[in-house]
Amino acid sequence: MKSKAVLLVALGVWLQSLPASHRGVTAAQGGKDFRNIESKFALRTPEDTVEDTCHLIPGVTESAANCHFNYSSKTFMVIHGWTVTGMYESWVPKLVAALYKREPDSNVIVVDWLSRAQHHYPVSAGHTKLVGKDVAQFINWMEDELNYPPNNVHLLGYSLGAHAAGIAGSLTNKKVNRITGLDPAGPNFEYAEAPSRLSPDDADFVDVLHTFTRGSPDRSIGIQKPIGHVDIYPNGGAFQPGCNIGEAIRVIAEKGLADVDQLVKCSHERSIHLFIDSLLNEANPSKAYRCNSKEAFDKGLCLSCRKNRCNNLGYEINKVRTKRNSKMYLKTRSQMPYKVFHYQMKIHFSGTESTTKTNQVFEISLYGTLAESENIPVTLPEVSTNKTYSFLIYTEVDVGELLMMKLKWNSDSYFSWSRWWSSPTFAIDKIRVKAGETQKKVIFCSRNKVSYLEKGKAPAVFVKCYDRSLNR
Ligand SMILES: *[C@@H]1O[C@H](CO)[C@@H](O)[C@H](O)[C@H]1NC(C)=O
Ligand SMILES: *[C@@H]1O[C@H](CO)[C@@H](O)[C@H](O)[C@H]1NC(C)=O
Repeated sequence: MKSKAVLLVALGVWLQSLPASHRGVTAAQGGKDFRNIESKFALRTPEDTVEDTCHLIPGVTESAANCHFNYSSKTFMVIHGWTVTGMYESWVPKLVAALYKREPDSNVIVVDWLSRAQHHYPVSAGHTKLVGKDVAQFINWMEDELNYPPNNVHLLGYSLGAHAAGIAGSLTNKKVNRITGLDPAGPNFEYAEAPSRLSPDDADFVDVLHTFTRGSPDRSIGIQKPIGHVDIYPNGGAFQPGCNIGEAIRVIAEKGLADVDQLVKCSHERSIHLFIDSLLNEANPSKAYRCNSKEAFDKGLCLSCRKNRCNNLGYEINKVRTKRNSKMYLKTRSQMPYKVFHYQMKIHFSGTESTTKTNQVFEISLYGTLAESENIPVTLPEVSTNKTYSFLIYTEVDVGELLMMKLKWNSDSYFSWSRWWSSPTFAIDKIRVKAGETQKKVIFCSRNKVSYLEKGKAPAVFVKCYDRSLNR
């Protein structure tokens, strides 16, 4: 139960410190005066992803050569968030290592603003303006003195660091290539105007992952509203699978306390691990789908990839800039690799006798050319005779091309009246399935024209009778 206490204290400190006190930016600096820069810029290496051993120092041109800065490669700048301990969290070297693994010749710079990040939350939140200014001056210096184009710079900011990245992007002489906001902080920023938070104007392309937006907007740890060109809400964005306390205790029992900070802010930090996943598992990016609401997504209504309606999560995202902010959704596993396979199911429940039942649990099993995924539970809020229902299911394994499926209607409890009494039954002739990842539509048919689905009884079996690609 220790982890629970840690979690509550950490969140409590955070939430108590509302509302805001913004500290203004002190007098503007002359172009070449770098004395006000408090943030430090450590160029880490693929060999040492953990320690800040070499710093690039604005105004000191030799520092770039000393640290073996590669002028012809792209640069990632990692900006951390608020900290209770005043130390880097364990994700920092993980993200650095993943960036180097994917782009071995790149420059990965960790921005150290720890001294300003360990105050009461609202104070540190105000400091994002100063940090953003530091980072902008640094990027301008790289451009002016090192001839290094800002168009080669990708900023990655977590929590408060996302807003610092946004402010930096708004202050550079030329736009940086990309900013990735990893669950940008909500408190003090949800209602802030674009200039004081991350916004689409801050880079050529801004992508945002929202992973911990539970609660009312003024209390949510992560910002709820879309603030980039593409905003992705994994698992609806409120909370992430595997992040409940029970799961945390299980992981501590299994792996020890080494990564306890990761558990405390599990859903918040999931944004980083999803991005790391996209760097490491490059062959199989998770796909996210544009949708007007989480509810519509959960009904399976948004699995289309036409006209940029779907995109890759993370590093390999397509840089789609729509006029309106676009919210995108996906489901994920609770651990790396996070990718799942999404399906929309459409079923018409027919019958001669009128039946309506609420909160019914079904189990679906899918059998494909590569694997099978059995007993995927689905709860439908209502089922009624002669109505069609659409819902989303997903598998953790890639089953390949679908061949067969089974549908089972669970009884309410073990001791069910249906054992003695005739149980409600629906007749189903077809099930329509749309696969998000392959964009294929498959129709499953009953082997004997129509199958009877009886509550609490054996599953109804359907086989593929027709399929076509959606994108011809
Ligand atoms: C710098 O990066 C380029 C690719 O961008 C690579 O070809 C070159 O070998 C790198 N230089 C050094 C010294 O690592
Ligand atoms: C459902 O539709 C079928 C075919 O239209 C009809 O025969 C049947 O009576 C309907 N069932 C109910 C309960 O209305």
